[in-house]
Order: sequence, then structure tokens, then C-alpha cells
Amino acid sequence: MNTFNATMASIDDKQTTQVNKNQDRIIEVRGLHTQYGDNTVHQNLNLSVYYGEVLTLVGSSGSGKTTLLRQMLGLETPKYGTVKVFGRSRFDCDYKFLKSIHNRSGVLFQNGALFSALSVYDNVALPLRELYTLNESMIRDLVMFKLAMVAIDAEHVNKMPADLSGGMVKRVALARALALDPELLFLDEPTAGLDPELSESFVELILTLRIEMKLTVIMITHDLNTLAALSDRIAVLADQHVVTTGSLKEICRHHHPFVQSFFKTVINQAKTDNNP
Ligand SMILES: Nc1ncnc2c1ncn2[C@@H]1O[C@H](COP(=O)(O)OP(=O)(O)OP(=O)(O)O)[C@@H](O)[C@H]1O
Ligand SMILES: [Mg+2]
Repeated sequence: MNTFNATMASIDDKQTTQVNKNQDRIIEVRGLHTQYGDNTVHQNLNLSVYYGEVLTLVGSSGSGKTTLLRQMLGLETPKYGTVKVFGRSRFDCDYKFLKSIHNRSGVLFQNGALFSALSVYDNVALPLRELYTLNESMIRDLVMFKLAMVAIDAEHVNKMPADLSGGMVKRVALARALALDPELLFLDEPTAGLDPELSESFVELILTLRIEMKLTVIMITHDLNTLAALSDRIAVLADQHVVTTGSLKEICRHHHPFVQSFFKTVINQAKTDNNP
């Protein structure tokens, strides 16, 4: 059985209610409206993310997934609406709180995962140098520790990003995202461009780190294998808002055309399993 089928087979066993809705929300988005000129990207968008879950955001290209993530990170401000992180609004908090949010969040961006002019070592050291007054020997220990966590050997630390494989770039970018021991990890298309084997090992890495570091993960992906292996819940972004949230099994029952097309393989597989 391949990974995808194995994951699908385990879906029934997976606690679809693993996320307790009474649990505290780590992120709460309400009434979000985003507009660029004539382009309305989000309209009355609502979304909650609960402590400890892996929530995956799916939607067609241009539906506003990365924009939403950037708003959660405080890098963009919507036209209307609120984005609360750790119980406080992103947009009316003071500098001290904004800085503490940054310390508690790690992000792996969709494009340009690493600074091309900095070595592997300096890429991972960057957030530590920016936010703390640590001496170089402490920074070195932390950088080497984070690189070991993502299985990057010491022999690669002085390499430049251009000399790394795609899989290694993602791992180093993940080490940098984890440098400050975040509680919240944002992953924008973490396995895009990786071959199936590298994707699978990246997914396993996230599964391990998630437990070790007690992370809450907000992930965007087009890759069904990655989605099925990692997600506790999925949120579907279509028609400028979140049309549904739930487990993979619950989502597949939704009649929205995007859902029916995006999850076609999963839905057909379930039909075949029910009518052998
Ligand atoms: N800074 C900006 N200025 C103007 N338009 C923008 C800006 N950022 C995003 N957009 C527009 O907002 C829409 C949503 O973009 P976004 O990058 O969030 O989509 P996405 O869902 O992440 O797509 P993809 O799956 O291709 O990554 C697009 O139409 C994009 O052109
Ligand atoms: Mg995007």
C-alpha cells in the first residue's frame, strides 16, 4: 500500500474530533475583507485555529491563501476585520506584543525560502541575532542543534543556498523557522517542488517536530499526500471566504465544485472502497 492509500485507510481511525472546539483558539479571524484595487480577495472571511492542531488551508491559485497567512503574521493589514493571535488583535497591539508574536511564530515562505547571499549557518543564525543578545558561541550551539533536528550535517553549514538540493533548502528553511522555538509554525507549500520521496521525508520530519515541539501548524498545500498525512483539519478557501472546515472525510462530503475537483482522487478512492 502506498503512503497515500495507507493514510486514507487510517482516516477512519484518526480522531476527526481531535480538535476540541471548546479548546482555546490560538488564532481567530473574523469578518476579514481584503481588497487590492478592484480585486476583492477576501469577503467576510472567518477562521479559527486551535492550540496544537495542524490546520491546512486549501484553495485555488489566487484565492488568497498566502495573503491570509501574511495577515496572520501581521505583515499585511486587511481593509476590515480582525485577526487575533494569542488572544490579542494583530493590528492594534503595541510594538512589544508584536515582537513577542514574532518570537513565538516561525514561517516557511512559499518562495525564496533562504537568503541567497547568506550561508546555511547565517540563514539559521539570522533570527537569533535579530531578536536576542546571545554571544556567538551560544548562537553556534543553537544553530547546530536546529540543523541537526532537520537532519542537515555539519559539513553543509558553510554552503550557500545555491549549492543545496531543493530538499535541503526546505530543511534549512525549516531550521530557520524553528530557530526561536516557536509555538506557531506557518508552512506555505512546504513540499512544492520536492520529489515524492523527499516530500515524504519532509512530512515525517514535520510529524516528529510537531510532537517534540508542541507546535500548532498552519499549512498551505496543493499536495494531497502532504495534506492527508499531516492535517487534523482542513479549511477550504473559495468564493472569497472559508466555505467549510473539517476533517478530510468531512470535507470530501461538501458539494462545492472546488472541493469536488480538488479532492477527486480521495472521493473516487472512497467510492471504490465502498463498492469493491
Ligand atoms: N501586494 C499585493 N498587491 C496587489 N495584489 C495582490 C498583492 N498580494 C496579493 N495580491 C493578489 O491577491 C490575490 C491572492 O493572492 P495570494 O498570493 O494570496 O493567492 P494564493 O491563494 O496564495 O495563490 P497560490 O496558490 O498561487 O499561491 C491574487 O489575485 C494576487 O494577485
Ligand atoms: Mg500562495
